[in-house]
Amino acid sequence: MSAFWHWFVVIITLGFIAAMVWLFIATGRARVPSETNEEGNETTGHVWDEDLTELNNPMPRWWLWLFYGTVIWSLIYLALYPGLGNFAGITGWTSEGQYIEEMEQATAEFDARFGELVGRPLEELAHNPEALRLGRNIFAHNCSTCHGSDARGARGYPNLTNNHWSWGGRPEQVLTSIYEGREGIMPGFGDALNDQEVTRTAVFVQQLAGMQVDQTMAAAGRRHYDMLCAACHGPDGEGNPDLGSPDLTAGVFSYGSSIDAIRETIRNGRHGVMPAQRDLLGEARSRLVAAYVLSLNETNSDADD
Ligand code: HEC
Ligand code: HEC
Repeated sequence: MSAFWHWFVVIITLGFIAAMVWLFIATGRARVPSETNEEGNETTGHVWDEDLTELNNPMPRWWLWLFYGTVIWSLIYLALYPGLGNFAGITGWTSEGQYIEEMEQATAEFDARFGELVGRPLEELAHNPEALRLGRNIFAHNCSTCHGSDARGARGYPNLTNNHWSWGGRPEQVLTSIYEGREGIMPGFGDALNDQEVTRTAVFVQQLAGMQVDQTMAAAGRRHYDMLCAACHGPDGEGNPDLGSPDLTAGVFSYGSSIDAIRETIRNGRHGVMPAQRDLLGEARSRLVAAYVLSLNETNSDADD
């Protein structure tokens, strides 16, 4: 917050409180002329329509003290907690600090409660209904924004249900993807290849994926592939889980399989980032969600799309 807005907030807030105190004092002191009518009630002396009179029933004192109470309360609050512009408050409390503290506490409680369960091998957890129930819940809260609520992914976000993995599908590899995050770096070749060469290479990639393509174009593209791409994607396009370079023969494309999408991939490269989850989720939750992801692939193990 800039100095201007800091003082803007401070002056408006304190000015408002001062104005309220003035209002209480001014109205508390105001003297109302008082008379007594025939029934013996005190009135303000105002009379309307000949016989309508206004009774003098001042606000009870305790009510006024309640207002003073709220003012005192707000001053104490503003002294202790953030509220006055940049002033952090004497206690140093922040919502973020409280959040982190509560998360750490929740993680510790979770680990204590489910420690025995999550210590079991991932293969076993992937068949344990209680672990899968917890894992599904964790997935919905932490992963579905990127991978979709059904884990089938979206453009640039891999499908986690099809048993095709850029970084490997063994339980410990999936767990590492979740713990450490992953960063796939595919360099762009727009400088090395001209437009026509990019197109031919893209056609060859489609052929690798088993699509029907122009054979001459694919053969020409193969030469570029052998030279520029095979180092990462393998001589036969089978991919390399150590680099996160996908298997191009699987027919699974997170960035699209159309000729234009593949040309875009080759020309400009791709850079998918999976954020590390270990600090956020802790080990127990990471293991449960890994088990859940693995279970999705077991039920789909014969699907090859
Ligand atoms: C901010 C978006 C984002 C979130 C949140 C996210 N992921 Fe990812 N995830 C990605 C991206 C992008 C990739 C692909 C990385 C790459 O390009 O290699 C990925 C890759 C993966 C992989 C590796 C896939 C493979 O083919 O090997 C796994 C497993 C995975 N995510 C699981 C999860 C789980 C489980 C969660 C929740 C705890 C999660 N992700 C949360 C974006 C995300
Ligand atoms: C330095 C290693 C490296 C080289 C060289 C490389 N790639 Fe890649 N490629 C990758 C990685 C890593 C990814 C995954 C990028 C991501 O996850 O965001 C990728 C992704 C792709 C994709 C997207 C797949 C999808 O899921 O949509 C295609 C297509 C592709 N590469 C083709 C090629 C072609 C053709 C060449 C040669 C012109 C090439 N790559 C060269 C590492 C490489």
